[in-house]
Amino acid sequence: MARHGGTGRLAARWPVVLLRETDSTNQRALEWDGGPVIIVAERQTAGRGRLGRSWHGRPGEGLAFSCIVPHDLMPPLPELGRLSLVAGLAVAEAIDTVGGTRCAIKWPNDVLLHGRKVAGVLVESVVRGGEVRVVIGVGINVANRDFPPALGGRATSILLATGKEVDPALLLATVAACLAHWLERLRHEGFLGGIRDAWRARDAVLGKELVWLRPDGSTVKGRAEGIAGDGRLLVRDGRGRLHAVLSGDVRLAAASG
Ligand code: BTN
Repeated sequence: MARHGGTGRLAARWPVVLLRETDSTNQRALEWDGGPVIIVAERQTAGRGRLGRSWHGRPGEGLAFSCIVPHDLMPPLPELGRLSLVAGLAVAEAIDTVGGTRCAIKWPNDVLLHGRKVAGVLVESVVRGGEVRVVIGVGINVANRDFPPALGGRATSILLATGKEVDPALLLATVAACLAHWLERLRHEGFLGGIRDAWRARDAVLGKELVWLRPDGSTVKGRAEGIAGDGRLLVRDGRGRLHAVLSGDVRLAAASG
């Protein structure tokens, strides 16, 4: 398992602010009046997910936090779009390290254990004082024993999938160390090469039949052919046309998950 630093590095990179309750740690980080920080919340009242969805978690069950990307870890502008893929990779690796597991990633950054979602990543940005601030929000199901029926059996937790009770503080420190590691690599090497290979090795949909839910509500059925050099997901439809998917969501056709 990869190890990139430890709790000391977390403290060096990001001071941690713990909130008992807030609307959304991403919102707090976007509005944060200071330097790079990790904001953790025991409870979010308006946690948000990708594509305008909500992110729920009962206190004590999950880990919800957001970090402001420091300047020296910001990727060059052309690589900014790949940041959310790299964040998913870092979270998957951290869960593996702490939980002794092997996570997959469903494009763009849903982290899966045994085919079910164990963590999600939401990257948001804002321009403040003429500078771009990028925030990486991470929600990890740590100790949940059940999930709302509305999730249709598509979610799991580290506890459910592995039987292990992991220490949330250790998990947070490990995610931070992995994030620092992969963001440094993205900045210096770019997405192609080692990072894309590491992402591909975890690709949950490669070669599988899936449905691409486009942002306009229409759908495309096809077979996943992996990610392109620019991070887009390649999907070949039934007529042989290749689509490079930049936005929207994908679901496995068989499991609709
Ligand atoms: C997704 O899978 O749709 C992304 C979920 C991201 C949830 C996290 S929880 C911490 C941070 N604050 C938020 O409001 N959202 C992210």
